Amino acid sequence: MSTPGRPTVVVTRRLPAPVEEQLAREFQARLNPDDHPFTPAELQEALRSADGVVPTVSDRVSADTLSVEPLRARILANFGVGFNHIDVSAAQARGLVVTNTPDVLTDDTADEAIMLMLMVARRAGEGERHVRTGAWTGWRPTHMLGTRLSGKVLGLIGMGRIGRAVAKRAHHGFAMRVMFHDPYPPPAEVVTELGAERQRSVEDVLREADFVSIHSPATPDTRHLINAARLALMRPTAFLINTARGDIVDEAALVTALERGQIAGAALDVYEQEPRVTPGLLKLDNVVLLPHLGSATQETRVAMGMRALDNLKAFFAGATPRDRVV
Ligand code: DGY
Repeated sequence: MSTPGRPTVVVTRRLPAPVEEQLAREFQARLNPDDHPFTPAELQEALRSADGVVPTVSDRVSADTLSVEPLRARILANFGVGFNHIDVSAAQARGLVVTNTPDVLTDDTADEAIMLMLMVARRAGEGERHVRTGAWTGWRPTHMLGTRLSGKVLGLIGMGRIGRAVAKRAHHGFAMRVMFHDPYPPPAEVVTELGAERQRSVEDVLREADFVSIHSPATPDTRHLINAARLALMRPTAFLINTARGDIVDEAALVTALERGQIAGAALDVYEQEPRVTPGLLKLDNVVLLPHLGSATQETRVAMGMRALDNLKAFFAGATPRDRVV
C-alpha cells in the first residue's frame, strides 16, 4: 500500500544505511534487503508499480524491459555516473527522465586509477600472492623488480572529470608527463594547469605512453576502442589501465597482447561481461583485477545515494533534476 502524497520508489540494490534511511523518510521506498540482482521481470514489475526506480550498473534496463505495460514509473534515478546499462533513447521515448550521479565519485575513481598503475607496475598483486602462499624466502636485490611510475608518460584516453583528476594526481604528485586524446577536450587553461599535452588521435597516445589509462564513456563509438590493432601500437614496456567500462577494451585481444608480450601488463576494474572475467586474464600474473571498486568508499557511496535522492526529490517536486541525462 502506498501512502498518498509520497511517491513510490524501488531501489534495485542495497545502498549504504544513511541513504536507505533517508529514502525511507522521503518516499514510499521499496528496498532490496537481500541485495539480489534484479531479474528483467523484477525490473518490469518495478516499472509497472512504482513512480521511480533507482537502478545500478548491475541492472540492464533495455528497450525490451522498458516496453512494459502499463508503465507507471516516470524517472530512473541511476545510482552511478555511467548509464550505458540503460537504453536512454528507449527511456526517453517512453517519457522517462533519466539522471545519474556525477562529480561525487571523481576523486575516488581517480585515486583508484593511480592505485592500479602502481599495483601493476610495482607488482603489488603478485607480491601479495607471493607472501600469502608462503613462497617468500626473504629480501634480495633482484627480487620482484617492477617499473617506476614517477616521471613516466601517462596517456589518458578521455579527459572528462575523472581523466582530469587522474592527470592532476599524475602531474603534480608523480611528475608524470601527461598526454591525452579526447574528441571534446577541456578548455586550454585547464589543459595548461594540468601540464597536459593534447594528442590528435588515440593512436598518438598509445604510441608514446608508458601508462595508458581509459576514462571515456561507454558508447557505441567507444566499444572495443582498444582492440588488437591499437594494442599493437603500445610499447612492449607499457601498461593498460581501465577504470571506465569493460566493453571499451576487447578482452580477448588484450589476453593475446599480454600473452605475446606486446604490452607489459594491465590493471582492470571493469569487464566486458561483469561479473564474468575472460578466463585468460585470470591466468596472467602481470594483470591486476579488481571487482569494479572505483567509487567504492563509504564516503562516495553515501554521496552517490544522496545525489540520486536529490534528483528524485527535485523531479517529484516538479523541478528539473540537477543531473538529468535525458
Ligand atoms: C559508476 O558510477 O559509473 C560506477 O562505475 C558504478 O556504476
